[in-house]
Amino acid sequence: MDDKIRILLSEEEVAKRVKEVADQISRDYKGKPLHLICILKGGVFFTCELAKRIELPLTMDFMSVSSYGAGTVSSGIVKIIKDLDDPIEGKDVLIVEDIIDSGNTLAYLIEVLKQRNPNSIELCTLLDKPERRVKDQVKVKYTCFTVPDQFIIGYGLDFDQLYRNLPYIGVIEQQ
Ligand code: PRP
Ligand code: MN
Ligand code: MG
Repeated sequence: MDDKIRILLSEEEVAKRVKEVADQISRDYKGKPLHLICILKGGVFFTCELAKRIELPLTMDFMSVSSYGAGTVSSGIVKIIKDLDDPIEGKDVLIVEDIIDSGNTLAYLIEVLKQRNPNSIELCTLLDKPERRVKDQVKVKYTCFTVPDQFIIGYGLDFDQLYRNLPYIGVIEQQ
């Protein structure tokens, strides 16, 4: 646990940007049955901060998927650990993620969720790491920040399950 962490985005920078994106979502979804789907575990902090700032009635559900396990490279095989509780038919679904890296997780999720007939399905991510994308059919409607190809932690993102609770976004420096 003596990893050296460098702050990439401070708590204040993240809060400001999350508010801007929440305002944009509030405008875009006015009058629609907005249904946020939080992708656990990484998406949990961002989903809570975002949801508190969206000025619309909304519903929420949670899905837990994993493609990394304890490793730092996507296995490409996405496992559903916990499915949604509620049907999404007819709803305007917004998937909320902490980061899009290879795109494997979201490509799989969109495929699975489209078959359940939502009225619409869009993506909102805290971080996008486009350099690593292998699934380029993943179109993201809302991105808070684009980040370089480094191993990112904090604000929900883990390294071997640790560091999710950091209030800022950081990178682990090579020792
Ligand atoms: C991480 C992250 C995204 C996904 C992004 O989740 O939270 O869900 O990987 O990577 P991809 O675009 O290459 O698929 P992870 O599988 O580590 O599970 P976790 O959220 O529980 O940490
Ligand atoms: Mn995740
Ligand atoms: Mg993870």
